[in-house]
Amino acid sequence: MWLPDLTLYKGARYIAIADAMASAIESGELKDGDRLPTHRALADQLSVTVGTITRAYAEAERRGFVNARVGRGSFIATQHSQRLIIPSDNEPDCVDFRLNLPVAKDRAEALSQSMNTLAKDSVQMNRLLGYQPDIGLLEHRIQAANWLKQTGLTTDADCIALTNGGQHAIMLALLALTRPGDSILSEAMTYPGFMAITHQLHLRPQPVAMDEEGVIPAAFEEACKQFSPKVFYCTPTLQNPTTAIMSGRRREALIEVARRYQVWIIEDSVNSNLLEQPPMPLAAMAPDLVLHINSASKTLAAGLRVGWLVSPTAIQQQVANALRASCWMASPLLGEIASSWIASGLAQQLLNEQRQELVLRNRLVNQYLAPFALRANPNSLHAWLELPSPWRSSEFIQAADQQGVKVIGEDSFVVAQYSAPQAIRLSASSAWSIGHLEKGLKVLAALLREEPKPTLTVF
Ligand SMILES: Cc1ncc(COP(=O)(O)O)c(C=O)c1O
Repeated sequence: MWLPDLTLYKGARYIAIADAMASAIESGELKDGDRLPTHRALADQLSVTVGTITRAYAEAERRGFVNARVGRGSFIATQHSQRLIIPSDNEPDCVDFRLNLPVAKDRAEALSQSMNTLAKDSVQMNRLLGYQPDIGLLEHRIQAANWLKQTGLTTDADCIALTNGGQHAIMLALLALTRPGDSILSEAMTYPGFMAITHQLHLRPQPVAMDEEGVIPAAFEEACKQFSPKVFYCTPTLQNPTTAIMSGRRREALIEVARRYQVWIIEDSVNSNLLEQPPMPLAAMAPDLVLHINSASKTLAAGLRVGWLVSPTAIQQQVANALRASCWMASPLLGEIASSWIASGLAQQLLNEQRQELVLRNRLVNQYLAPFALRANPNSLHAWLELPSPWRSSEFIQAADQQGVKVIGEDSFVVAQYSAPQAIRLSASSAWSIGHLEKGLKVLAALLREEPKPTLTVF
């Protein structure tokens, strides 16, 4: 059994143990795959509490050299593919489920390989360092078309514009289609980044009621009559925040209404690739009516800031104008990296890893939260949980926070004054380890079985 000599290390005991582990890895005493002693065994040997060992292992996990597998113990795991990248400002003891991030994986190797290859090609490097066509290089758009095929969308490279991520693509679509003051429609609960854009562009988003499949066609029609919108924004696959997936019939019904009322649809598809067999995109069903958005953020790497906007022919010039006005062009260098990952098959490999990790994590989410009103999908970054009465989301968020677990409530997603159920979104993907995830889920499950403790703040 590994037994560190703590007399060599100063400071808090848990830090000393993590430091000792780092030295043991460096000297070769501990190797990848080695099982670490149980918390109890090491605590007894070192005459410290079990809590100290738990903190020490959590610290080692945070630093990226331990992998805790539920029910199997803790193992040394320094290999790149297993190492989790942890933002340095992460509080080691806090479980943060708030951000809809992909599971953090080590992408350094992939990036350095593509940069090395690029560095050897000075002609291409100089080309990428210059101005390019606003919608991006043809070869990048061809690779984008290849990547989008796996979501069921077959499109011509000429219909694709490279963007600085999905957020930028939403902005471009709205710039191309709307004027300040316009009313536009969206799911009644939607991606907050969309609302931030509508605010900046002085648009008036109106909520359309939803059921478990997403927007209800009859409510959509009512809203079309009432607001005469130019645009309807929606996320038909793995909706943020509810995880809803529209059936084919629902998609057809919405397209039919949009055609009758002459409403452009902006289809946000950033989560689609996470599914192995996503339903047919709206853009494949109505390419003349739908602007389709995807990005590398949820599947490959958010920091690449690579996104794609597929537009109907009639609107492509407006999109190109909006692109030029906002940034001239998305960075060709970053586009080159994403394209080379797609072309080499690395993108597919990274996506497969992401899916595997999500399946593992969502299994745990189900294990702890299935007895409650949970809406989850094995391949989703996030899950949605309607709170049992009498919990209000504000109380629940506060109670969870007091135990070091952070989630967000329906308020962050509601459009205008839509009356939403008391609910929380939790992104299992954003917990920085399986151990952390399980710790957070235990806290949430225990709270859901309790009732809120009344606090008297007004008198
Ligand atoms: C539904 C949805 N659309 C778009 C985005 C933005 O994606 P990107 O990081 O590519 O800008 C997000 C990010 O969370 C999202 O959840």
